[in-house]
Amino acid sequence: DASDIEKGTYPHYMLKEIDEQPAVLRKIIQAYQDENGNLSLEQETLEAINGADRIYVIAAGTSYHAGLVGKEYFEKLAGVPTEVHISSEFGYNMPLLSEKPLFVFISQSGETADSRQVLVKVKELGHPSLTVTNVPGSTLSREADHTVLLHAGPEIAVASTKAYTAQVAVLAILASLAAEAKGKEIGFDLIQELGIAANAVQTMIVRKEEMEGLSFDFLELSRNAFFIGRGLDYHVSLEGALKLKEISYIQAEGFAGGELKHGTIALIEEGTPVFALATQEAVSPNIRGNVKEVGARGAKSCIISMEGIEEEGDRIVIPAVHPMLTPLVSVIPLQLISYYAALHRGCDVDKPRNLAKSVTVE
Ligand code: AGP
Repeated sequence: DASDIEKGTYPHYMLKEIDEQPAVLRKIIQAYQDENGNLSLEQETLEAINGADRIYVIAAGTSYHAGLVGKEYFEKLAGVPTEVHISSEFGYNMPLLSEKPLFVFISQSGETADSRQVLVKVKELGHPSLTVTNVPGSTLSREADHTVLLHAGPEIAVASTKAYTAQVAVLAILASLAAEAKGKEIGFDLIQELGIAANAVQTMIVRKEEMEGLSFDFLELSRNAFFIGRGLDYHVSLEGALKLKEISYIQAEGFAGGELKHGTIALIEEGTPVFALATQEAVSPNIRGNVKEVGARGAKSCIISMEGIEEEGDRIVIPAVHPMLTPLVSVIPLQLISYYAALHRGCDVDKPRNLAKSVTVE
């Protein structure tokens, strides 16, 4: 539907697509529910997942970051060992494969050449494949054995936003269905928790002005920025850094909090911005420790935590959601902060230099 891809009153597609995320999450909840209100998936797709002794996720960029979150879901909810690989690496340097691998390609566009070359090789080897994509009929969808759709609607801005949250939600659904098929209890009602997360995303979106202020405060004068986290928060920190560098051209790095002291902390100077994600209760004290370490070297830190485990001084506190679903919500302030940083620098937000929406060359 062409009217779907009009900007309307929005100055940029990116902002429109950020705003669409609660609706996309609700659409996904609907799309994967059967008439009895249970999560469901095509039988054949489910069998492909359940027939695997190991999942190999293949993706690039933001989709790779969603895959890292997906690994946690497949392993922690369904008990399926999962590896996540950058497509351009995997094709030319294949790891040892398990006996019954399933290849899961995550690609918003379904056209990424680096991922496609892996699919071609995997098919030659006779292994089953599943594509998670936003575009029905795309190359990766047509060529894989199975397809699972993101239902995010067309994503026009080069910087991926709603496709990321859609990927995370769909991967959670796949993992919970895999768990169910194995007779495993995931211990929470995923439909309900995704609904709660959609509301929390809405809450964060409404806080645009505040995010604009933080963006200005932390990034106006910086040439670089760090994003740190542990566990799920680490995966989100990688996405936060990619978003920022891609559209604002500020050099940014996502880092595992504990790894900083092994070298990167040398880059911290007076005023260096550090965005620290602290939504995971078990490792929140550790990441707060890392914030102190960088603070002692002059860093200016913006802690992003969650209701219930927040502490005084945290700059962004997201509403409480299920601890496995925090990436859906904590990524929103990072998307917005990047958006405003790019805007304030006069960058072409929707079409950053040197980049294409889908990378169709290897
Ligand atoms: C995301 O903001 C980027 N533009 C980019 O990393 C993108 O996610 C990557 O090129 C993969 O694209 P795909 O999901 O269409 O395969």
